[in-house]
Amino acid sequence: MTERFTGNFTQQEPIPDEGIAAALDVLRHGRLHRYNVAKGEVSQTALLEQEFAALMGSKYALAVASGGYAMATALRAVGVGPGDRVLTNAFTLAPVPGAISSVGAVPVFVEVTEALTLDLDDLAVKVAEPDAPRVLLLSHMRGHICDMDRLMAITDAAGVKVIEDCAHTMGARWNGTLSGRHGAMAAYSTQTYKHANSGEGGLLISDDPDLMARAIVLSGSYMLYERHLAGPPSEVFERVKYVTPNISGRMDNLRAAILRPQLAGLAERCAAWNARYRVVEDGLRDTPGLTVIERPAEEGYVMSSFQFLLLDWAEGGVQEVVRRCASRGVELKWFGGAEPTGFTSRYDSWRYADAPRMPKTDRVLRGILDLRVPLTFSLDDCAQIARIIRDVVGLVYQQAE
Ligand SMILES: Cc1ncc(COP(=O)(O)O)c(C=O)c1O
Repeated sequence: MTERFTGNFTQQEPIPDEGIAAALDVLRHGRLHRYNVAKGEVSQTALLEQEFAALMGSKYALAVASGGYAMATALRAVGVGPGDRVLTNAFTLAPVPGAISSVGAVPVFVEVTEALTLDLDDLAVKVAEPDAPRVLLLSHMRGHICDMDRLMAITDAAGVKVIEDCAHTMGARWNGTLSGRHGAMAAYSTQTYKHANSGEGGLLISDDPDLMARAIVLSGSYMLYERHLAGPPSEVFERVKYVTPNISGRMDNLRAAILRPQLAGLAERCAAWNARYRVVEDGLRDTPGLTVIERPAEEGYVMSSFQFLLLDWAEGGVQEVVRRCASRGVELKWFGGAEPTGFTSRYDSWRYADAPRMPKTDRVLRGILDLRVPLTFSLDDCAQIARIIRDVVGLVYQQAE
């Protein structure tokens, strides 16, 4: 009998009861704005920032409206402005070049490898060029982390500042160091499909007092920055408050209330995601024609999605795999399509960036397939999904031979 999967790839877990109770409290008292506090009260947003800084081991944290806003704010805080060029991955999602463009800057794409990470050889060439960009917005796309020790050696030597896009790596590590703790600033997203879910939302961390003071004022603190629990001391704001514009993008207390218990349970959820990832990986290993992404020992990944490659397949073959998997209930996303659809997008569909062709990245994009693995799937569900993909890939591959 042909197996068919019936689960829903976009169904998240419910918000923890504690988060629902805290959100109801906020709704009942009505003080949703983060700076609207009763006498002696500390806002949910300020507490979230304090807890996130402690979790990440950073000096400072700021909660904002989205991951995209967090990235744009980090770019502004480090001084990126109109006409500047900013290095970033050629394989990432639209909000990343979008954040660069939103400050009037121009993305300069760096190739990605078959490990789905930034190509450090290409990075080394690009930072050595005359007039090389002074900032790298590094996207840990789909949770794949490059050799951060080598990356930081390259960027430090070239005087390039690194901002990490950790939208897919909250809780992950490189060589024991948490993702987001290598660069000058790191941005996280709490949009529904990320490792903490408030519908929309973002977080920004840094150890640099000036960068964080600028980010807090940029986010729309007015002169109420003393109500933060994870911000630099007041004297730092004296240096920036008159010269930093307010570009409102604050988080509100409702979303912060929902997020706090999720952060407390992050380690447990990360372990549950990885258990699912490994079941899919085991099920797909050694499938003829299919390349599993090997993970280096230094990478402490957290995978809420799964990627594999059908490298150098004809376009029709990849499309046939996507079609047949869909007919058996398994939703695969392909980044190789000429037209951007859904969440998928490729560097040559961001035409405002005017990028040259990137041959290594093109080869990866033509072959990459992506699936979500929400925590509402059981380990048995994951094993079934892998069996279906393996079966379909095997059939299509045989027919193509
Ligand atoms: C790689 C990556 N970076 C950043 C973001 C931005 O997050 P947000 O949707 O919260 O703006 C996303 C969102 O999907 C993403 O996939």
